Amino acid sequence: FGQDAALGEKVFLKCKACHVPDTDQNKIGPSLKGLLGRTAGTQAGFKYSAAMADAGKGGMAWDEATLASYLHDPKGVVKGTKMAFPGLKQDKDVADVIAYLKQFSP
Ligand code: HEM
Repeated sequence: FGQDAALGEKVFLKCKACHVPDTDQNKIGPSLKGLLGRTAGTQAGFKYSAAMADAGKGGMAWDEATLASYLHDPKGVVKGTKMAFPGLKQDKDVADVIAYLKQFSP
């Protein structure tokens, strides 16, 4: 399957209560602007769980592969994350939302 950023914008409706994609504003969750290539747990001004901060210190960075696994199963991939979201079940939804977020990354 391909990646469709326009469909990803619709998937992002599930994320919007907690995240903005395109400005530096942190909400319940950290801003996702510039996410691709960013080390986990490092958005300025956001108070992360110890689990997410430690994941970043351990070298985890957000690329297509790490995002795909985290978005499928947040609590399975970063044990102790405080992101209260069960994850996306469909591979296609994951691929599309990553395509959407990429538009706001370097
Ligand atoms: C963290 C994506 C839904 C709350 C994160 C991170 C990503 C992400 C990539 C790590 C960011 C970083 O390291 O800077 C998404 C996407 C979502 C979604 C794409 C929808 C498919 C939600 C929802 C909530 C939420 C609905 C609130 C109920 C949080 C919180 C964190 C976080 C609190 C920080 C986690 C921690 O410190 O352990 N999210 N998220 N997210 N998200 Fe989400």
